[in-house]
Amino acid sequence: MKILDIHNNTVRPKLYEKGNAIMWTDTHISKQLLDVHLNAELDLGSRKAETINSTVKWILESCENKQLNILDLGCGPGLYSERLAKEGHKVTGVDFSENSINYAKDQAREKKLDITYLKEDYLNLDLEENSFDLVILIFTDFGPLLPKEREQLLINVKRFLKPNGTFIFDVLNDKNIENKISPKNWETADQGFWKDEPYLALSESFIYESNKVILYQHIVVDTQENISVYRFWTHFFSQIDLRKILREHNFIGLSFHEDILPAGDLWNGDNVTFCRAINRK
Ligand SMILES: C[S@@+](CC[C@H](N)C(=O)[O-])C[C@H]1O[C@@H](n2cnc3c(N)ncnc32)[C@H](O)[C@@H]1O
Repeated sequence: MKILDIHNNTVRPKLYEKGNAIMWTDTHISKQLLDVHLNAELDLGSRKAETINSTVKWILESCENKQLNILDLGCGPGLYSERLAKEGHKVTGVDFSENSINYAKDQAREKKLDITYLKEDYLNLDLEENSFDLVILIFTDFGPLLPKEREQLLINVKRFLKPNGTFIFDVLNDKNIENKISPKNWETADQGFWKDEPYLALSESFIYESNKVILYQHIVVDTQENISVYRFWTHFFSQIDLRKILREHNFIGLSFHEDILPAGDLWNGDNVTFCRAINRK
């Protein structure tokens, strides 16, 4: 057993030190994730079906329900894209998970919805400039981006949006951040979320208070003693933080909404801030 390697990975890492594995595109994990996304009763991977319905309603109302060309970044299995397309909007969904995008495509075909799905990394995306009325990024996916990635995302969003187009995204806010640290946990399984073979998973989190970042880390050891380190550097934001970031990218008309999700746990209700920003060009 590579105890020393495991131990080294449990030492508090330097801020933003990357792990050696990516969860979203792993063949086995992305299958587990799809099941989680599609469970309409769970707020994991995607939110509950009822919450998605009310969020889509709010998004469209806040865009005055005009006929829109919409870009859904990190669309997963297309739960928002489909609802938006059913309301008569033109939708492009982007996700780098092959499993989710294939599922989304099959669903669109079955339901005869004209949605364009692209299997792409939204940080390296090449789409027509000035072409979208609305870009969305939903399920607090702005938070795990490292600062450089966040910059790239905002550059891309601005490039794809029409002048005066709208960007809507949600973040975990910094209310009671210290309560959002997950306790240490270990798990062994014959097969499960992380692997389709026996594994040991060691999970813990580290807070970097002055950066308002919590690292959620999972070390997974398989039967060959390969060690996969999954790191989610999760940023928590105040409205002031968001204003600063968005203004640096010349977004205007900023508004923040903390009453979009039903109250529940630390990842719901007023712990999540929805941001609406207009592209000034
Ligand atoms: C938490 S899920 C949310 C899915 C969807 N927005 C929803 O709420 O149902 C995040 C999604 O973003 C995708 N994703 C993460 N980083 C990405 C990237 N750089 N480029 C494209 N997709 C990405 C993942 O594959 C995953 O499907």
